[in-house]
Amino acid sequence: MNTASTTPVIAVIVVAAGSGQRLGYGMPKAKVPLGGESILTHALRGVVAAGIAQQICVAIPQGDAELQALCDAFARDLKAGHRRNAAAGHSVQLPVVTVVDGGASRADSVRAAMAALLPETQSVLVHDAARALTPESVFHRVADALAAGAAAVIPVIPVVDTVKTVEPTTGDGVAIAPELVTGTAPRESLRAVQTPQGFALATLIRAHDALAGFNAVQAAAVTDDAMLVELLGVPVHAVRGASQSLKITTPLDLILAEGLLEGPLGGRWVEG
Ligand code: CTP
Ligand code: MG
Repeated sequence: MNTASTTPVIAVIVVAAGSGQRLGYGMPKAKVPLGGESILTHALRGVVAAGIAQQICVAIPQGDAELQALCDAFARDLKAGHRRNAAAGHSVQLPVVTVVDGGASRADSVRAAMAALLPETQSVLVHDAARALTPESVFHRVADALAAGAAAVIPVIPVVDTVKTVEPTTGDGVAIAPELVTGTAPRESLRAVQTPQGFALATLIRAHDALAGFNAVQAAAVTDDAMLVELLGVPVHAVRGASQSLKITTPLDLILAEGLLEGPLGGRWVEG
């Protein structure tokens, strides 16, 4: 890693174009209320609070007028807040908010957002809107690693469960159980991966160009951007994530997120 530390021009891509099937609200997950506001509003607020982005590029479901209006209103409030701060003598960076139509897969949504980045962008953080309560400290750890010279960096947390590999039970007759265990992964070296994932823009572009050559099965197995960078042979650095960065995926996750917001320390509670 480079020891010289410079602050790159950073864009944060917020992918919010998923349909939220597993949450089961019958609406895109970004719109689902959490503590009285949408999941996307919480996510955008977290990005702004981190104060690292020159641009926030949001991918929403194609043609979703409601989420477009939400982003427009968010950008307006941000500008108004910035004017008030400037009048009071506090000059903080005002990120540009850009909204794009996402695609059929998460990777398609990332690509659509990449196409709308400001030309001066040097580094990109790709963040799931579904990780609505990610604390600022995680954004800072990722941005710091990029400034220190990493081409790719991800936030991770230790895995608490023992993890096994399995295969379907085969053979004739009635199986005793549907699956057979084939091994136990060494837990000390396992990490659960979160977002925001940070990249030098040139590296992320190269990673997504490689994806274009994948067949449908290979493409479906891509669940994050770091995977694509690993396949290029580029080192991916790992910094500490946070448990409150949970990805709101199932109804239980939404209950947990509500609990974090209502907890005694409030929504921006920061662990250790
Ligand atoms: N995402 C996206 N575009 C897609 C699919 C997913 O921008 N075509 C985003 C989601 O909005 C979410 C993040 O990627 O912020 C992680 O995806 P996931 O948690 O799987 O969200 P959904 O795809 O909406 O949920 P589900 O898979 O249950 O439908
Ligand atoms: Mg999904």
